[in-house]
Amino acid sequence: MTRFTVVSILPEIVDQALAHGVVGRARAAGALAIGFVNPRDFTTDRHRSVDDTPYGGGPGMVMKCEPLVAAIESACAAAPAHRVLLSPGGRPLDQARVRALAAHEHVVLVCGRYEGVDERVIETAIDEELSIGDFVLTGGELAAACVVDAVARLLPGVLGDAASAEDESFSSPLLEYPQYTRPAVFRERPVPELLAGGNHAAIRAWRRRESLRRTAVRRPDLFAHLRLTKEDEKLAGGLPELDVASRTTVALVHHPVLDRTGARVTTAVTNLDLHDIARSAATYGLSGYHVVTPVESQREKAAHIATLWQEEQKEWRAKALRLCTTAASIDESIAVLTREYGQPPVVAATSADPARFVHAARVTPAALVRELQGAPGVPLLVLFGTGWGLADAELTQVSRIITPISGRPAWNHLSVRSAVAILLDRLFGLRDAWVHEH
Ligand SMILES: C[S@@+](CC[C@H](N)C(=O)[O-])C[C@H]1O[C@@H](n2cnc3c(N)ncnc32)[C@H](O)[C@@H]1O
Repeated sequence: MTRFTVVSILPEIVDQALAHGVVGRARAAGALAIGFVNPRDFTTDRHRSVDDTPYGGGPGMVMKCEPLVAAIESACAAAPAHRVLLSPGGRPLDQARVRALAAHEHVVLVCGRYEGVDERVIETAIDEELSIGDFVLTGGELAAACVVDAVARLLPGVLGDAASAEDESFSSPLLEYPQYTRPAVFRERPVPELLAGGNHAAIRAWRRRESLRRTAVRRPDLFAHLRLTKEDEKLAGGLPELDVASRTTVALVHHPVLDRTGARVTTAVTNLDLHDIARSAATYGLSGYHVVTPVESQREKAAHIATLWQEEQKEWRAKALRLCTTAASIDESIAVLTREYGQPPVVAATSADPARFVHAARVTPAALVRELQGAPGVPLLVLFGTGWGLADAELTQVSRIITPISGRPAWNHLSVRSAVAILLDRLFGLRDAWVHEH
């Protein structure tokens, strides 16, 4: 039987929080034991004080060493314990940690109050600090109750159906699929038809697919570290909303851009940019590559070069160059995508100096992809400036500015071809692709 001992000056909070429902029944049935030790019982002064003013000044009070350490030692006297301090500065609690705690026979949960506890309590009497999230509570009691609740449901005899602890969010690092119960239609919203049929394999596949979709959209941080099985790859491949690259177009802008003096100019199309950016666009699965210049003869030249490459025998190269089309302006590029997708694109830009784009929201590549995953069907247009960069002041169409690419030294003169490749990798690269190979 797993035992918890809660060290707290307000034990009623934890006791009450764990008196009901599944956990309350488990306590009554003896499947889970929770004891309490109050540091006030280890004070020696008339006021039973457990706190004092902080050395060095500052607001609030700090929990004193002596009564708290004495309380922790008393909690461990009956049975050796793993000693946990609930603290906003601790390691974030997750299901893996919950599982590890469930393996201990005795866990002591120490609840801070006021501005926290004297550091020497942690140094002498604590094995691990845990946080339940990036917010600050008035005390550790509710955090301790969360820990007990999460651990309790993994203990034998606590949950009626052990499988339900196995299957759900975070046990495998996937969020749970949507659940439905009767009625079959609620406020004109029917339960997905497939769930009412008896095809269990199809239901399993649907649930797995929905879990993958939810995790990708809501928790890309978890999704990025998943070890997808071959079956998962197939299921996720059928989720077009996750595939933002396939509705992304890069635009190589030759006007309006700046020259080295800051003047607004039009640059010339180059063969190298045309060829290399098309290959990057194809590598990352983009839907298009617009070469933007107001000079008609330059557009003709770009189209001509693209066609020449396509006529070559190598099919892979032709495939890349087929992505390449021309537009007279950024607005024309936006109009083309609006026609094609039935809605205007989100327009993002890159700049070595994002501060110049005063009207655009700053986003990381991951945040931008996540945003688009949450907006199925919306195309993405990513602008890259030639010359000394986009003439930002005029570009009111740009609503997102992506974290600039920067190495360590101040020297920063990446070619636009390199910048496109690096950014596409940050947006869409499967960095840990090898982990998928089973
Ligand atoms: C007001 S908080 C102390 C905050 C502390 N001054 C700081 O800024 O980190 C008082 C106590 O609440 C508990 N607590 C607050 N937020 C928590 C969280 N997110 N997770 C776990 N415990 C928390 C801790 O036991 C902490 O000692």
